[in-house]
Amino acid sequence: MHRTIADQTEAELGGRGSVLVRQRRDHVDLDHLLERCAATDGDEQLGVLNRIYRLVFSHAFAEEAVLWPALRRSVPDGEALTLRVEQEHQEINDLVTRLERARPGDPGREALLGEVVDLLRRDVRDEEDLLLPRLQEHLDPAALRRLGRSWELVRRIAPTRPHPVVSRRPPGNVLSALPLSLVDRSRDALDGVGRRWPRPLGGAASATSAALAEVAGAIERLPGMRRGERPATRRGDDAVAG
Ligand SMILES: [Fe+2]
Repeated sequence: MHRTIADQTEAELGGRGSVLVRQRRDHVDLDHLLERCAATDGDEQLGVLNRIYRLVFSHAFAEEAVLWPALRRSVPDGEALTLRVEQEHQEINDLVTRLERARPGDPGREALLGEVVDLLRRDVRDEEDLLLPRLQEHLDPAALRRLGRSWELVRRIAPTRPHPVVSRRPPGNVLSALPLSLVDRSRDALDGVGRRWPRPLGGAASATSAALAEVAGAIERLPGMRRGERPATRRGDDAVAG
């Protein structure tokens, strides 16, 4: 039986810089944000959701680029374990893409939001109880800290929005990281202006962000961005159309 990383001390997890400690810290931050999301509505909730997306998608993108390949290299059943979490990530990308198109009050939006929250919590449990303990068994503390630094580095330059079409695995996801990140982070800033400023500036910012969403969709379809994908997480053009 593998021991969850949820209740271990920092020293047991390899020290402050260990990838296990960094992962758990983000998961705790996510938990707080999900609680705030449940306690808010309207524009305030949209602001909280934007913070959740910024945390979740860069975190998961760096997992897919750095962490899960390391798990596949070091753990015998790493392929099946990581595919399970990649499928969860793919589902979250799909659901949030749909949620982003809905506005507060739209029919079905609350149910969609509930699905996203449930899936995010399940993903954290799978990582802390199943995948990360396996990494802990196979890597020494120095290796966990090295992996922590690589994961952190990629996380800082990773996209912050859902991208259901790009590959969940290298090399496609690594290739797409920088251009999608530039577009996403510009959209984060523009959406912040759109929410806080009155028209016409706020409206212009929101319109520019929507135009950039089209640019992101075009980047996702560039040659090479889907390389490395497994059939279970592949999405066609239909997934992002509309
Ligand atoms: Fe994680």
